[in-house]
Amino acid sequence: MTQKPNPLSSIKISGPIPAHLARSVIEETLRNAILDGRLPCGTAMRQQELASLFGVSRMPVREALRQLEAQSLLHVVTHKGAVVAPLIEDNSAETYALRMLLESEALRLSIPLLTEKDLSEAEACINALECEKDYTEIGRLNRLFHMVLYGKAPNQRLLTLVEHGLNEEERFLRFNLEAMGLGETSQEDHRELLSLVAQKKVDESILTLRNHLMRGMEVIATYLKGLETAEKKARQ
Ligand code: NI
Repeated sequence: MTQKPNPLSSIKISGPIPAHLARSVIEETLRNAILDGRLPCGTAMRQQELASLFGVSRMPVREALRQLEAQSLLHVVTHKGAVVAPLIEDNSAETYALRMLLESEALRLSIPLLTEKDLSEAEACINALECEKDYTEIGRLNRLFHMVLYGKAPNQRLLTLVEHGLNEEERFLRFNLEAMGLGETSQEDHRELLSLVAQKKVDESILTLRNHLMRGMEVIATYLKGLETAEKKARQ
């Protein structure tokens, strides 16, 4: 029997990690490896193995894993411990419905408090998205754009939840953006949204945001349905 290569062997550590940085270095390293697919869904994240890989004690490993779990990148499975979470949950329609509620509310609270600086930051994201070809960067800029617009909402817990939702979506888009061709309509939405936000038109902004998220949800649903059909055909 040939042994499958351990996905963890794709992770390269350059030199010893200073103790005070251990948790954040481990978290960032694993996060990137999950997001770019080097650590596929279901990969077991064993504390002892990671501790020897990074040359640290188990404590920072445990803390990093807890952070990644909070970001929905890991799941805890009975008897198996933490494993890399599936790309998108079956309940993606519910996830989107919830995101719509949370993001609308964050936007509503944030708009009156946004400054000129925030608006130009959001515009910079749109401009950068215009010529960006790298999907990793597109995902990051999209999340940044949205977070800038919500960022002045005074409820930190709400913002944390909102960011989790965007993180989940970012992970999915990295793999599928090309296949889905979501790029251009997204940009039109972003520009319209920014212009309404700049005019402090709260209700219209929320409506545009909802349409934007709805479109995203529809494209993902259609895409997943297509995959399902293709899989069924392949099995026949
Ligand atoms: Ni967007």
